[in-house]
Amino acid sequence: MIKKAILPVAGLGTRFLPASKSIPKEMVTVVDRPAIEYVVKEAVAAGIEQIILVTHSSKASIENYFDRNFELETTLENKKKFDLLKEITEILPPHVNVISVRQPQPLGLGHAVLCAKAVVGDDDFAVLLPDVLVKDSSDTNDLSLMIQRFADTQASQIMVEAVPDHMVDQYGIVDVASTPAEGRSIVMQGIVEKPALGTAPSNLSVVGRYILPAKIMQLLEQTPKGAGNEIQLTDAIAMLQQTEVVEAYRMKGQTFDCGSKLGYLKAVLHYGIDHPQLGESFKALIQELT
Ligand code: G1P
Repeated sequence: MIKKAILPVAGLGTRFLPASKSIPKEMVTVVDRPAIEYVVKEAVAAGIEQIILVTHSSKASIENYFDRNFELETTLENKKKFDLLKEITEILPPHVNVISVRQPQPLGLGHAVLCAKAVVGDDDFAVLLPDVLVKDSSDTNDLSLMIQRFADTQASQIMVEAVPDHMVDQYGIVDVASTPAEGRSIVMQGIVEKPALGTAPSNLSVVGRYILPAKIMQLLEQTPKGAGNEIQLTDAIAMLQQTEVVEAYRMKGQTFDCGSKLGYLKAVLHYGIDHPQLGESFKALIQELT
């Protein structure tokens, strides 16, 4: 089973300025915790045990967040604030560890994934792009369904969702014979990064959740610069798909693009109304405003 997940967090978050000027965009708060915690928890809920952050020198606060903070813990203990102490020490279960590697140059998503090659070794792995939050529609999360499908078929899994036709040029887009039902996978005939409007093979966009074989690292080493003059993960997946079956998995849950300001506000609304303690009061607040 897939136990390792790569989370590329080295990007400077220009879409989220000024908020991301001096804190990582991944640390911007969604309700009462940083956005990155939702993504890490999604991975852990799917059975991931090792989180590999591909990071940048300006992003140490992400690593600090998943580390222990002895001084804070001692202070909370002395003040008998045991609820808060539990909250900050139980962000991740003890069997999950977080490792960081650096992406020394901003050469693209494919390059970021390649930076984790030595940590991944011979293991197949997941990739989760932290700009996008994926909210489950039911008890089973989409990533765990992809992992199960990979275990059953050995076919790489690329999570997709339908987007309006005028937005296809912002995403990786897959080529499939037909649109699968939600929660189902279909063999992919191709994948292209940010196609020009009117040229896309479908309106199924790559969400930013992937289950990939270890061998994709060798393909990434050979991948030339593509869209945006960057080494694209999409292009390595296109190469992989020349030699073996790669499947598009159509998600059941809902996505929030926290890399964009409106997507972020939408996430705050949705996660806010579902929050176990704040949800009811937050709903009342929204009603008051409308
Ligand atoms: C990346 C991927 C793209 C994917 C998108 C999802 O692009 O390259 O295929 O659709 O994430 O958010 P980026 O948004 O980093 O330009």
